[in-house]
Amino acid sequence: KAMEIVKQFEEKCGTPISKLRQVADAMTVEMHAGLASEGGSKLKMLISYVDNLPTGNEKGLFYALDLGGTNFRVLRVQLGGKDSGIVNQQFEEVSIPPSLMTGTSDALFDYIAAELAKFVSREGTDFQLTPGRQRELGFTFSFPVMQSSIASGTLLRWTKGFSIDETVGQDVVAELTKAMERQGLDMRVSALVNDTVGTLAGGRYTNNDVIAAVILGTGSNAAYVERAQAIPKWHGLLPKSGQMVINMEWGNFRSSHLPLTEYDHALDAESLNPGEQIYEKVISGMYLGEIVRRVLCRMAEEAAFFGDTVPPKLKVPFVLRTPVMSAMHQDTSPDLKIVANKLKDILEISNTFLKMRKVIVELCDIVARRGARLSAAGILGILKKMGRDTIKEGEKQRTVIAMDGGLYEHYTEYRKSLENSLNELLGEEVSETIVVEHSNDGSGIGAALLAASHSQYLEMDE
Ligand code: BG6
Ligand code: GLC
Repeated sequence: KAMEIVKQFEEKCGTPISKLRQVADAMTVEMHAGLASEGGSKLKMLISYVDNLPTGNEKGLFYALDLGGTNFRVLRVQLGGKDSGIVNQQFEEVSIPPSLMTGTSDALFDYIAAELAKFVSREGTDFQLTPGRQRELGFTFSFPVMQSSIASGTLLRWTKGFSIDETVGQDVVAELTKAMERQGLDMRVSALVNDTVGTLAGGRYTNNDVIAAVILGTGSNAAYVERAQAIPKWHGLLPKSGQMVINMEWGNFRSSHLPLTEYDHALDAESLNPGEQIYEKVISGMYLGEIVRRVLCRMAEEAAFFGDTVPPKLKVPFVLRTPVMSAMHQDTSPDLKIVANKLKDILEISNTFLKMRKVIVELCDIVARRGARLSAAGILGILKKMGRDTIKEGEKQRTVIAMDGGLYEHYTEYRKSLENSLNELLGEEVSETIVVEHSNDGSGIGAALLAASHSQYLEMDE
């Protein structure tokens, strides 16, 4: 009976290449719709106001604050300009107390401003602010924001584990600025960016072929460089560069082609944001372990998979986190010792047989593979929209996608599956021109670089 549950689940999770192509095509269609008009699609295709990516000429001391992943980070970067690049950098990582994710707006912003103030107060002499200048900050805020300029924008809604109603509709730069004032910190936010946009900017700084960025972490999203003329909903002046970076908010993509199961529907219904972020809920780190837990729970309840009683821990939402799932999935010991230990430590389930452990590994594989293959399909959708999924005659243009996030970084099987599926989708010849490049904490540096290129002192320096 338990095997039957797994088998049925596996069938529903199927992602044959034909299905992945349908998902990619649907992604491309939604991209067009989201660019055509506000509210035209589930894909918000948000305008980032970044119409120039870093060139290497950025100079001076800049800060970044990165909020929205598992940890939040503060960073300072001394930029030396042409030929020197990044002269010095330092960062600190702090985890966000979970209570702040669902508390009040002031409490959250006060906390991050206080950490930032501490960071600034501990600055050594190896970092040099031009005398008489105000400190400037790039604010990476990894949630959907409707921007009204490079340094302002209102929160459309929270995603991932955050949910603070009063922040929705507020300008997050104003919120942060007020909190910094409360901390007595004199700093100006000169760029507000999504983590995908930061990663794109950071990636471009070191590699000119970077044209898109994807985050696969707690949540998932992508940004890419669009032709300004291909954005019908943009009524502003055409930027000189002719380009505009778009934050897709692809986590909210949905399509009838996505292979969703009853477990996914239940997870969604019981989530902080029902009906939203459907694609994110099948591909990203916050949810993969939880899907596995839900299937295991059913196996325990209906097929006594763990014996006569359902292990109480197994009933707790989100106890089975994706790093644990990944460790079990990648257990190479002959008797699956890691699986046994995790079951014992995390779920308080002891005395498992090898056969049961094998089933659990199989279950992790099904969930990870579906997620990885669907994210490869999303990437293909972007490449199609950009016309980079084929090779133009006589041209062998290199296309680099900057990638970041804990899921991609740490879950090797997921990463391998993504890469294999993407190669399979693109075919051998095109695959050779497309590179997915891990850009570790590119988003923090990217935000600092964008703060530099939007500095209030820019004209003085030219
Ligand atoms: C980090 C980036 O490396 O990855 C962040 O610097 C990003 O900007 C984060 O939000 C996402 O990963 P995770 O796994 O922490 O959600
Ligand atoms: C969520 C957020 C998005 C962010 C992504 C990755 O999808 O809505 O803004 O880029 O997570 O952190």
